[in-house]
Amino acid sequence: MNKFYLTTPLYYVNDKPHLGTAYATITADVLHRYHELLGYDVFFLTGTDEHGQKVQQAAEKRGLTPLQHCDEMVKNFKNTWDELNIGYDIFFRTTAEFHKQAVQKCLQELWDKGDIYASDYEGWYSVAEEIFYTEKDLVDGKSPTGREVVQIKEKNYFFKMSKYQQQLIDHINNNPGFIQPEFRKNEVLGFLRQPLNDLCISRPKSRLSWGIEIPFDKDYVTYVWFDALLNYATGVGYQQPDRKADFDKWWVDTGPMHLLGKDILTTHAVYWPTMLMALGVRLPKVIYAHGWILNRDNAKMSKSFGDVQQPLELKQKLGLDPLRYFLARDIHLGNDAPFSVELVESRINSDLANNLGNLLSRTSQLVGKFFEGKRPAYTKDDEASTALKQAALALGAEVKKDIESMRPSFALEKIMQVLTLANRYLEEKAPWKMAKEDPASAGHVLSTVLEVARIATVLLSPVMPEKTAEILKRLSAPEISWKSATTWGGIQEGAAIEKGDPIFPRLELTKG
Ligand code: MSP
Repeated sequence: MNKFYLTTPLYYVNDKPHLGTAYATITADVLHRYHELLGYDVFFLTGTDEHGQKVQQAAEKRGLTPLQHCDEMVKNFKNTWDELNIGYDIFFRTTAEFHKQAVQKCLQELWDKGDIYASDYEGWYSVAEEIFYTEKDLVDGKSPTGREVVQIKEKNYFFKMSKYQQQLIDHINNNPGFIQPEFRKNEVLGFLRQPLNDLCISRPKSRLSWGIEIPFDKDYVTYVWFDALLNYATGVGYQQPDRKADFDKWWVDTGPMHLLGKDILTTHAVYWPTMLMALGVRLPKVIYAHGWILNRDNAKMSKSFGDVQQPLELKQKLGLDPLRYFLARDIHLGNDAPFSVELVESRINSDLANNLGNLLSRTSQLVGKFFEGKRPAYTKDDEASTALKQAALALGAEVKKDIESMRPSFALEKIMQVLTLANRYLEEKAPWKMAKEDPASAGHVLSTVLEVARIATVLLSPVMPEKTAEILKRLSAPEISWKSATTWGGIQEGAAIEKGDPIFPRLELTKG
């Protein structure tokens, strides 16, 4: 069985989840649920990044210990992800004991091997990003992304990242799908044209105590990125002999796909693979950088720039599944995208209320009126019903192709196109006109449309798990599987077709 191991970044706990981080997590959830539907054996990891200066400062501000602060924030993340129906398999915390021990083993291994050395460090540091910069990296006295930097001089430990530069370039060139989308791969290769510095992987405890202690120098803790990146491997058992089978299954044999925002591509595509090379562990299968949800000023939506949308408020206002649908349908994975309630409203009304919703309510009403609410028999396919049936049966392969090439928005567009065809067919055949004289033909039309709606609904289930389960229940065909998505006849003849309230009410939030 094909396997799929997917990760989101671990979110910093100095901030509550907002629409930007929710977008990243929902996107991962959608991809993970699609792979599950496609029949993959799946594993989905998300969690929180809890060490480092930012978190220490946030806790100090609130008069809490760092761990108290983290425990509270973690509740927030877990609650939000549960509310957003994120089906993760593991919620990973970098403060977990097993992780700390595993990170220390890695540090010791690299120290013993000579890939970590001590040296004086002089340079610039961005607390917001937890990243060191050299003088030449700075742009107008700030980090390349415009964050404040402070000057630092101290003894530190360094990872010999430069030693692995050529090996990394070769790996990227030999594995075209390693960094995606393609244009991001070219960015990383561009970055690697300059000589790579070694990576400072320690912080003196005198300045920062909230971290994992360096096993060979008790006065230091490890750099938060060194700790956090390792989660992807320790989360599936790396450096834990009792979990070797898990590690072999998900890491060694499968290899993860890391989904992350373009702002943290360098840490994932340069620091992380070189760390793994030094540790003698296979590299991730795919590093996929998505774009940003933008705020009203076309900048990245984030707390530091104000103007953030709260995912749970949006859920309240728009409904969870419609919100998830918008994010998956309107944002082409990899690109930045604007967000506004107007945009969501217009998408929900056109695709969900007018297209899928309308198809379901019209057919179920007609079945109620003319066939006692029971699915009528098929009679004979004509050209139109054959074409529609074929379009629906071809959808599965299309969706599979789009998902496996990381284009969920295209898959959704194709599903909607088939639903549009079904609406058109219904309109043209007008079974309400023929129901009296020719009930058999009217029944055939309605059954055909219902079956197309069922197939489309199964294929939409990874995006809208709740609404689609409700629809399938109303159609008396609850099965969600790849087989049910790709075979005709899931609704039995005579099965009850429930009318119910409109499943996707039209939104009129921005009118007037
Ligand atoms: N803790 C690090 C990641 C460590 S992974 C080993 C971190 N955390 S973060 O909370 O700042 O960001 C986590 C992710 O959320 C990033 O991938 C980032 O791109 C994403 N997003 C934050 N705001 C976003 C938007 N406005 N839009 C899309 N994604 C956004 O970095």
